[in-house]
Amino acid sequence: MSDPRTNAGSRPVAVVTGGARRLGRHLCMALAARGYDVVILYRDSETEARALAQHIVDSGGRARTLRVDVAHEAQVAAVFADISAHEGRVDLLVNNVGNYNPQHVTKLNPAVWDATLAANLSGAYYCCFHTLAQMGSGGSIINIGMAGLEGIRANVHGADYYVSKTGLLVLTRALAAAYAEQNIRVNMVSPGQLDNSIDLPSPGEITQWVPLGRAGGLQDIAQAVEYLLDATYVTGVNIDVAGGYRL
Ligand SMILES: NC(=O)c1ccc[n+]([C@@H]2O[C@H](COP(=O)([O-])OP(=O)(O)OC[C@H]3O[C@@H](n4cnc5c(N)ncnc54)[C@H](OP(=O)(O)O)[C@@H]3O)[C@@H](O)[C@H]2O)c1
Repeated sequence: MSDPRTNAGSRPVAVVTGGARRLGRHLCMALAARGYDVVILYRDSETEARALAQHIVDSGGRARTLRVDVAHEAQVAAVFADISAHEGRVDLLVNNVGNYNPQHVTKLNPAVWDATLAANLSGAYYCCFHTLAQMGSGGSIINIGMAGLEGIRANVHGADYYVSKTGLLVLTRALAAAYAEQNIRVNMVSPGQLDNSIDLPSPGEITQWVPLGRAGGLQDIAQAVEYLLDATYVTGVNIDVAGGYRL
């Protein structure tokens, strides 16, 4: 919804990057159902973002959409200035943008590398920076990672993606340590193979990698996000939601 309105300060505000579609969309709906005013950040999917905001409003919630390419710090700064002016607070940031490019590492080139790092890692940092500037005391940041980051091994496909997600984990822990005294918690939720994945293995193959024997659903990720919202003594953790992947 593009019509601005001021949050009187009574309702918590959640900002979700890449919120218009797929996992981001699901998280926006889950957060709205928990009582958050949701700011849906999108880049290209304006129609989907507006439809989602309308769906949330029709369901009794509140939502607003804003366009941003998180790879550009000036755009991120402008979006958070808009949120400061209209919502007046940020209680939760979900850094959900994460472009996956399963290219072989020998086929990578600097332009692809830069684009992945700019969106997945620098973009998340810019959003954290501008969120933290207005968060004050108390709040939560949840970064979306990928399963298996801890003890990561060589993977010749998607090296730029894995580097960006590993960097995001390092950033998660640093911010968690630094902002704990302000009661701002910073955590990571790391999906494994989701059932909407662009390179989903067959059910037979999945059981080779995933002990629980199935791909994850969007609700599995939302469940972990909701756990972290309730878990007020948890910060700096990374939760793999991956059916036991790499056990
Ligand atoms: N799906 C899986 O199997 C899986 C597995 C492991 C981890 N994950 C992680 O889970 C998260 C969500 O995955 P997904 O598959 O739902 O994501 P996705 O569909 O690949 O992307 C989500 C949204 O990110 C937005 N986006 C991309 N680049 C952007 C930029 N520079 N600035 C602003 N927005 C940008 C796009 O918004 P617009 O459409 O508006 O342009 C896109 O709709 C990601 O972090 C991903 O790495 C997913």
